[in-house]
Amino acid sequence: MVGSLAERINEFKSRRQAVILAHNYQNPDIQDIADYVGDSLGLSIQASRTPAKTIIFCGVNFMAETAAIISPEKQVFVPDPKAGCPMADMITAERLRGLKEEFPGRPVVCYVNSSAEVKAESDICCTSANAIKVVKSLPDKEIIFIPDKFLGAYVQEHVPDKKMIIYEGYCPTHAKILPEHIEKAKRAHPFALVIVHPECRPETIKAAHKALSTDGMLKFVKESKVEEFIVGTEVGMLYRLQKENPDKRFYKVSDLVVCPNMKMTTIDKVLWSLEELEHLVTVPPAIAQKAKMAIERMLAVGRQD
Ligand code: 13P
Ligand code: SF4
Repeated sequence: MVGSLAERINEFKSRRQAVILAHNYQNPDIQDIADYVGDSLGLSIQASRTPAKTIIFCGVNFMAETAAIISPEKQVFVPDPKAGCPMADMITAERLRGLKEEFPGRPVVCYVNSSAEVKAESDICCTSANAIKVVKSLPDKEIIFIPDKFLGAYVQEHVPDKKMIIYEGYCPTHAKILPEHIEKAKRAHPFALVIVHPECRPETIKAAHKALSTDGMLKFVKESKVEEFIVGTEVGMLYRLQKENPDKRFYKVSDLVVCPNMKMTTIDKVLWSLEELEHLVTVPPAIAQKAKMAIERMLAVGRQD
């Protein structure tokens, strides 16, 4: 990155008394200037704990919305308001209400990759780092799980005593990772362990050694004695894995695994966001209040991986 750009970001950061939070899939230059880089769960926790009143959130909209909901006293800004999540857009509050009418009395577990309106209609949220733990924490035998059908199938396999009513959403980026990509990568790197995200297809997860959230991958790699890893998630993850584990080697499972929304945030837009204090994330208070309950229930359950 151009030195002066980093200097200006730091200058405005202290002038605004702001913190920069960035998801693990962000571009390397953004990860490098961020105060905290993490997964969806880690970013939610960090947003609630930071004493800073101004947060520049580099990720996608549902993540920034979650931060704004749990910390209504803080101002959350996104460098590019068009950075959405196609999976989150696959379910609406109206569709969820229909599902609740069809299956009355079942609690709704809502993956955080969803809108504030959908969270407000849900009982408890989860992320990929605690989905199994959240589902197990419920006393109910039947639950509605939205919107990710692949994460839902992964949880169902680990919690066979519950019947999960699973919505049909999915991540278009992770859906591109096929078992044949993994087999090809394994042939090229026979000593590597394969780690994938639980948003992948069930047959892809079956071909891997382990399914983990993005921070779960970091922990797993750090604790492992193995030196090579094939990584089945968005390519931005490889930068952080390599940076924090310089003696280990990481291989992309495929060049196709790029989330275009995660890449909409650029370093220039981060600076403009700090300079102009744009774009403020707002959630109507009535929706925020209800969504907050579902998020706080999830935070009380904590992390599983
Ligand atoms: P993590 O919570 O594992 O960071 O995943 C978020 C996400 O959007 C994956 O596509
Ligand atoms: Fe959404 Fe998939 Fe991008 Fe994650 S990788 S933000 S789930 S589209």
